[in-house]
Amino acid sequence: MKTPIEVFAPAKINLTLHVTGQRADGYHLLDSLVGFADVGDRVILEPASRLSLRVTGQMAEGVPEDERNLCWRAAQAFGARVAITLEKHLPAAAGIGGGSSDAAAVLRGLQQMYDAPVPFDPIELGADLPVCMLARAARMSGVGEQVAPVDLPQLHAVLANPRVAVPTPAVFKALPKKNNPPMTALPAFANSRGSLRWLQDQRNDLEAPAITLQPVIAEVLKQLSFLEGQWLTRMSGSGATCFALFDTEEAAQDAAELLAMTRSDWWSAAARLS
Ligand code: C5P
Repeated sequence: MKTPIEVFAPAKINLTLHVTGQRADGYHLLDSLVGFADVGDRVILEPASRLSLRVTGQMAEGVPEDERNLCWRAAQAFGARVAITLEKHLPAAAGIGGGSSDAAAVLRGLQQMYDAPVPFDPIELGADLPVCMLARAARMSGVGEQVAPVDLPQLHAVLANPRVAVPTPAVFKALPKKNNPPMTALPAFANSRGSLRWLQDQRNDLEAPAITLQPVIAEVLKQLSFLEGQWLTRMSGSGATCFALFDTEEAAQDAAELLAMTRSDWWSAAARLS
């Protein structure tokens, strides 16, 4: 085995997020089309005598280096003795699966390191873990445990986060209506324009409740909607990261450059989604 093992932890984007019901235990039933970006965090794993975690990178500030971090809990539940370096490039608590994608990357790396399967159900670490283990475009349903791969043409996005953290439980709690319609039937997604048109008719049901908690999200959506060439703007997950979609990489790059200049106080990035 070649060490250290490096694993990319891509940003998870909920292209749609329909909340279709609520279970007796309080968890919500979801119908979500999820894509993964070519921007993300990086996890580096090295065999060690005990478990440790170091967080580096431009978004490391405030990210815990102990059992409060999902990466730690993933390695602990795996029973691994490993030194983890987490290079943080994505904002935390941002609706783009930072913590879940990092933990899934740790689990994928440990599978390789130990040549063994994950000895527990990843959903025990969070509803986004199953889709992040797959790390490719998928339809997610149930409370997150049902994941079906979807062939999606490459989409071009601008991601923007106003650097406010949004606590997921509070957003679900602020959602007034739990039984909303699911996505309309998924088409064959032959090309990106067809996908963009279909996506325009879908929703993120958590957008409105997240805006009540963090009104700046409405401003992010507004700024994204002003970008030339955007087809749709939407929030990802429970926020606060929002995205705009474009049909060419050039349009997304130009828009991202403009947004980075006009809103240099926000985190933003151009990203390819697949
Ligand atoms: O599973 P995860 O830790 O990501 O979920 C955070 C919180 O979001 C849960 O404690 C729950 O309040 C809410 N949630 C939910 N229904 C889901 C996923 C998350 O109500 N399907």
